[in-house]
Amino acid sequence: METDIRLFEQIFKELMCPKLYIYDEIDSTNDRLKEYADQGAADGTVVVALSQTNGHGRSGRTFYSPKGGNLYMSILIRPGKATLSPLITPAGAVATAKAIEKVCGKKVDIKWVNDLYLCGRKICGILAQGYNIGQDSQYIIIGIGINVRNPGGDVPEELRNIYGSVYGNEITDADAAMILPRLSAELYGNYMEMYKNGFQSGLMDEYRSRSNVIGKRVRYISGNDESYIDVIGIDDNGGLVTKDTNGDIVTYMDGEIRIKL
Ligand code: BTN
Repeated sequence: METDIRLFEQIFKELMCPKLYIYDEIDSTNDRLKEYADQGAADGTVVVALSQTNGHGRSGRTFYSPKGGNLYMSILIRPGKATLSPLITPAGAVATAKAIEKVCGKKVDIKWVNDLYLCGRKICGILAQGYNIGQDSQYIIIGIGINVRNPGGDVPEELRNIYGSVYGNEITDADAAMILPRLSAELYGNYMEMYKNGFQSGLMDEYRSRSNVIGKRVRYISGNDESYIDVIGIDDNGGLVTKDTNGDIVTYMDGEIRIKL
């Protein structure tokens, strides 16, 4: 795929992005943006890549990041010494879901905390990493990986039952080259708007309306502990409100859930 760097640059400039770095291949957009942040990169700086050789996922996992029409992107925010909003991460899911819906015309689901699903398959993962927390220099990197089209080749065995993409084989590499700049810019614009507005709790209505776990029995995993719980809601802080097997209401702020779709 020919990356049209000028198209990316032109669209991001209109969004007042202070600096955009674009790579055909990189180890990890989150790692590279951390290097730039430590060198003083401005609030709102972005790194985009078309493939990653060492993409990071949640819980220390690697994130499969092949070349072939996918988008790997990281956004730097510097909220100063402000108390960090618990919505920094859920806002990434809402910003991305809305961007995919607008640019690609596909309705996506959000699986708590931050995975996006389409037709029962994971099409996007989000990893937010914070540094110097509590200090004036604190910063957060929000990393988003979207499987936009089927990259071809073999998907790793362990992902075969879950890996999906926005378009599958519906579009060509050349189509993807036109879509990626618009998709990344839309996502960036959505996220920065929520950030500038102080991550208002109203964004959780957008989150809940796309949730595919509310009302479901799910497997909850935290470290080595696993249990079945009924999800009864998601609160305005992004917490998963559940009822356990004893009937007790428990709200989780972290951990991971598995669902049967
Ligand atoms: C997950 O599903 O576990 C989260 C995956 C996050 C992947 C993105 S791709 C862009 C950014 N760079 C990384 O190394 N990871 C995130």
